[in-house]
Amino acid sequence: MNDAAPATTGKVWLVGAGPGDAELLTVKAARLIESAQAIVYDHLVGEGVRQLFPTRARLEYVGKKAAKHTLKQEEINALLVDLARQGMRVIRLKGGDPFIFGRGGEELETLHAAGIPFEVVPGVTAAAGCAAYAGFPLTHRDHAQSVVFVTGHLKDHSVNLDWPALARPGQTVVFYMGIGGAPEICRQMIAHGLPRSTPAAVVRRGTLADQQTLLSSLGELPQRIAESGIKPPALIVVGSVVGLHEKLSWFENR
Ligand SMILES: C[S@@+](CC[C@H](N)C(=O)[O-])C[C@H]1O[C@@H](n2cnc3c(N)ncnc32)[C@H](O)[C@@H]1O
Repeated sequence: MNDAAPATTGKVWLVGAGPGDAELLTVKAARLIESAQAIVYDHLVGEGVRQLFPTRARLEYVGKKAAKHTLKQEEINALLVDLARQGMRVIRLKGGDPFIFGRGGEELETLHAAGIPFEVVPGVTAAAGCAAYAGFPLTHRDHAQSVVFVTGHLKDHSVNLDWPALARPGQTVVFYMGIGGAPEICRQMIAHGLPRSTPAAVVRRGTLADQQTLLSSLGELPQRIAESGIKPPALIVVGSVVGLHEKLSWFENR
C-alpha cells in the first residue's frame, strides 16, 4: 500500500476502554471520546463508556456480536483508513487494553502502511481489572513472582500452548477467552505438574455491577463451570493468589 495521504487526512487514536466499569477509563481516553468525530468500537466496550459517546459523533459498531454485519478484520482496517481519509478525528475504542489480545497492532500496521497518523492510549486490561475487583493480587511475594497472560482460545482444541512453562509453580496464569477450552486447559495444567488442588477462579464481566466470581480448584473447575453455566466474557485465573480472595474480596461484599 503506502498510499500518499491527502492534506486533509485525519488521525486515529487507538484507545483502551478498560474492562467495563466506566470509571476505569483513563482521563485521556475520556477526553478523546468527548472530542471524537467518529468512534469505531467493539462489543466489549461497556455500556457506561458508550454513554459517554457524544451524540454528534459518527458511531460504528464493529463488535463480533453485530447481528448481521460481522466485519472482518480487513474491513475494520479499511473503515479506519476511510474515516481518517475523510479528515476525521477517529477513536478506535477497544475493551481493556488495545495491545493485549486486541489486534491493535494489526490495525496500526494498516494505518502505518496507509500513511495515517495515529496515537495509542492504553487501558486497564481485563486481568488487572478482574483481579482487583475479585479481590486477589496477580503477584504476591509469598505466592507468585510472575504473571502470564495467555489466550485460552485453543485452535481446533489442539494443544498449541507451552504447557510446561504455564504449569510452573510460583506464578499466576490468566487465560483470556478460555471458557470453552477450560476442560483442556485444566487437564493440561495438571498433566504438566500443577496439583489438582491449585486454586483457580473464573471472573465474568469483571468490574461491572453483575460481576460473577467462581472459586474452585484446577481439578474441579471444568465441572463447576459446566454446573454454573457461566459464559464469556470471562477470565480463568490459576495460582495460589486466588486463595487470597477469601480475605481480600471487597467488591462483592459491599
Ligand atoms: C479479545 S479479548 C480482549 C482483551 C482486552 N483487549 C483486554 O485487554 O482486556 C476478549 C476477552 O477478554 C476477557 N475479558 C474482557 N473483558 C472482561 C471482563 N470485564 N471480565 C472478564 N473477562 C473479560 C474475556 O476473556 C474475553 O473473552
